[in-house]
Amino acid sequence: MPARDILVYPDERLKYESMEVESFDDELQEFIMDLEASRCAGPGAVGIAAPQVGRLQRIVIVDVSAMRKSVPNHGHLVLINPVIAEWEGHEIGREGCLSVPDFTGNVIRAQRIRLQAQDPHGELCEFEMQGFEARAVQHEIDHLDGLLFLDRVVSRRTDIFRRKVYKK
Ligand code: NI
Repeated sequence: MPARDILVYPDERLKYESMEVESFDDELQEFIMDLEASRCAGPGAVGIAAPQVGRLQRIVIVDVSAMRKSVPNHGHLVLINPVIAEWEGHEIGREGCLSVPDFTGNVIRAQRIRLQAQDPHGELCEFEMQGFEARAVQHEIDHLDGLLFLDRVVSRRTDIFRRKVYKK
């Protein structure tokens, strides 16, 4: 399960739109293990999307269960072809990203979402999410559409913050 190199801003490949996953084969399962290893390598992160390791497919992993402040969540999720079907409310919150290691930013996201996705074997699943888990999923789906949190901040002057050490 080798961790793969994370593409870092301003790598052009982070701007591409990812393709839907169509075959749920052994190669996909192996890639998911590599993606998970990549998420957990180095500082660790609550989420990762396939394009961050250079694979332009709609695959994300989210797991906010290890956060210091406990938040409502569904544990470790591998989401294939995720689609947000409903949004509700909005709130501002701080985000970081493995592909933007030196900065965090304030981003407005929906408070609650209804998410549809497939699991690694192609089974359809649906989740009601809120708070930080919903935020993490919205952040990761942005990667599939070629967007970073840097593209979402209201003001690059006042909503982006330099950090010294990467923390969860
Ligand atoms: Ni990210």
